[in-house]
Amino acid sequence: MGHAALLHDIGKVAVSDQVLLKPGPLSNEEYEALKLHSAIGERIVDRMGFLAGAGSIIRHHHERWDGRGYPDGIGGSQIPLGSRLFALSDTLDAMTSNRCYRRALTLEAVREEIALCAGTQFDPAIAKVFLTVPLENWGELRQQADREALAASASAAPAPSPQSSPFPAEVLLQSSPVIASL
Ligand SMILES: [Fe+2]
Repeated sequence: MGHAALLHDIGKVAVSDQVLLKPGPLSNEEYEALKLHSAIGERIVDRMGFLAGAGSIIRHHHERWDGRGYPDGIGGSQIPLGSRLFALSDTLDAMTSNRCYRRALTLEAVREEIALCAGTQFDPAIAKVFLTVPLENWGELRQQADREALAASASAAPAPSPQSSPFPAEVLLQSSPVIASL
């Protein structure tokens, strides 16, 4: 679960910056290209033995409880539990983080949104447990995550060059139909 959470969007290495960094809304074609990242991510991590089990969580991290997600449109308990847990955590993180196009939402607003989406986007049982956690606890976790992110960025080494990527080019090529088609 930890590996999957850290690497959930690794498949975005195969999505063009034009799509990933586009400031405005995506076209249908661009959105379809973006949606490939979860299946590509699964194919990348499945080639690494020490990441066993992370692949299916990554593949399904954009599925929805009501079956309207991607890549497979599965729903309910067909979605791996790890993916259902991560989907709610990822949404919580996204909504409580500042973005260039909007400020972070308050925890109260996030709670309302998650309650609203229980049974459609999120597993209602997971959402119910989430909603029993006092807001102060989530606030402390948010602050702790922000401190850790700040410390990590302060001590980060310069971005690695493509030659020093931890993923050999042949792994990426075999993993990604997008890259392989270039
Ligand atoms: Fe994702």
